[in-house]
Parts: sequence; structure tokens; C-alpha cells
Amino acid sequence: TMPIFYGKAALIDFLNSIKTPHSTIGFVPTMGALHQGHLSLMQQSLAENNTTVVSIFVNPTQFNNPEDLEKYPRTLEADTLKIAQLDSNIIIYAPTVDDIYEGKVASQDFDFDGLENQMEGKFRPGHFNGVGTIVKRLFEIVSPTNAYFGEKDFQQLQIVKKMVSKNHLEVNIIGCDIYREKNGLAMSSRNERLSKTEREEASIIYKTLLEAKEKFKTQSCQEVKNWVTKVFESNSSFDLEYFEIADEETLLPCSEQLKNKNYRAFIAVFVNNIRLIDTISLK
Ligand code: PAJ
Repeated sequence: TMPIFYGKAALIDFLNSIKTPHSTIGFVPTMGALHQGHLSLMQQSLAENNTTVVSIFVNPTQFNNPEDLEKYPRTLEADTLKIAQLDSNIIIYAPTVDDIYEGKVASQDFDFDGLENQMEGKFRPGHFNGVGTIVKRLFEIVSPTNAYFGEKDFQQLQIVKKMVSKNHLEVNIIGCDIYREKNGLAMSSRNERLSKTEREEASIIYKTLLEAKEKFKTQSCQEVKNWVTKVFESNSSFDLEYFEIADEETLLPCSEQLKNKNYRAFIAVFVNNIRLIDTISLK
């Protein structure tokens, strides 16, 4: 039977009891509603660590929209089954809001050197302060050697790295490949809300990113942006929130292509009110 903890005190005791001088802890923070993308992160952690801890916690402080928080799927039983099928030694931490926030549900204010002001940060005010708050708190509780984050949320990955370096935390942040459905659509718990046709149509998001990458070899940032905007304007099933090409380190929008920088494309698009994001390296 798989260890599952609902409170931090028992989890910390347990982790201390299995610790040896050279053992490593791999940590995969999630909000549950697990899919193959989450499981691929766990697989990587299992391969690289003695112990793997997965947290399942729908973090209230990172939701800028109360309705979104309320509607977020909570499927703890199905989630624990999926984890057990992957590996019965994975340790699950599924805390209550009180166990984490101790009566004070609020975000800390972070300075992420401007990373928080781009893309997701523009459209989801307060979101990254909430993410920083919960990830820092979870790191304090779990004390991981390595922590795994998906490149699906590339801005979040960079923000977590920034938070770790600014606070001198001793944890390696490991970015993991995006896991996709057969048609290319990035796996997301939100995909469950798409109809069968919408799910098929949504494959255009990744297809467009791949074509944008190809065009970026010969065209300017602005030309590629204009082209992507047109693709979505001419398709009534989609409502483009943003398409951006940015420097991977600073997340600042690209104006002219510079040789020594790594660029990445980012997209957020609505399909019938369901917000999907995706990203691709342009290197
Ligand atoms: P959640 O959306 O549950 O995602 C948990 C982790 O899974 C994140 O690192 C995310 O980038 C990764 N992930 C999601 N879909 C993926 C895919 N298709 N391929 C690869 N990785 C994928 O992100 C959060 O939760 C929260 O903000 C959290 C970090 C847990 C803090 O509350």
C-alpha cells in the first residue's frame, strides 16, 4: 500500500525516517486531475531519485478567478490510483488548505525580475505570486533534492528557477518535455472539457507552432507574429489571447532576432471558453 499524507508533520517525520546520507528526494508538485503529462514527470523523478514525492493540492492563492478555483477538478481517488499503477512506492502529499496556509490564505509578494510581467502574468494578475508562495512552502516541507516542472508552463518553470536562485534554496529545478496527445495537442486537465471535435480542431495549435518555428528561420519576429494572428483570426472556433516570441531567459518579447539568444514561442488561445496554452523552442 502506498503512503499518503494529509498533514505536513507526519510527512516530514516519514521522510526523515527513510533518509540516508546520500539518498535523494525527487518532488513533483501538482494540482491533481492527473494525466499522462503529470505521470511523465513522475517517471523522470523515479528514474533519477531514491524517493519520489508527489503533492496534490489545488492552490487557492494562484487562482485569479474564484469560479475557476471552484470548478477545478478534484479527483483524489482516481489520482492516487494512477500513481499507484505507475509505482506503489511514490509518496503522496495531499494537504488541506489549512495544513499549508495555517489560517492565513494569502500570497507573498515576489520580485521575479520582471518575468512575472509578461504573457500569463499580464492576463492572470497575482497568479505567479500564488505559484511562488505555494512552491516555496512545499519545498520547505518536502526538502527535495530535485523538483520536476513541465515546460508546458515554461513561464512558471522560469519563475520557479528565479525564486530558487534569489532565495538560495538548495533544490535543482528540472524542466521536462511537454507530453502531447497523438494529434499534437499538449496534455492538460482542461482538454477533458473539450468536445471530440474541439479536441481534434485544437491540434491546429501545435501545428501552427511548428510552422511558426519553420518560418522563424527566415522571417522576422513581427512577420511570424502577424502570420499566427491571421491563422487564428480566420478560424472562428478559436479566440487568440496572445501569441508571443520571447527570449527564454528574460521572457522579454523579441523585436529583432539576436544571434546569441534562445527564442521561444508562446500561445494562449480559447476554444469555446476553454483556455489552452502551449509553447515551443525556436532553436
Ligand atoms: P498542474 O497544472 O497540475 O501541473 C503540474 C506540473 O505538470 C507542472 O509542472 C506542469 O507544467 C506539468 N504539466 C502539465 N501538463 C503537462 C504536459 N502536457 N507535459 C508535461 N508536463 C506537464 O502547475 C501546476 O499544477 C501548479 O501551478 C503547481 C506548480 C503545482 C503549483 O500549485
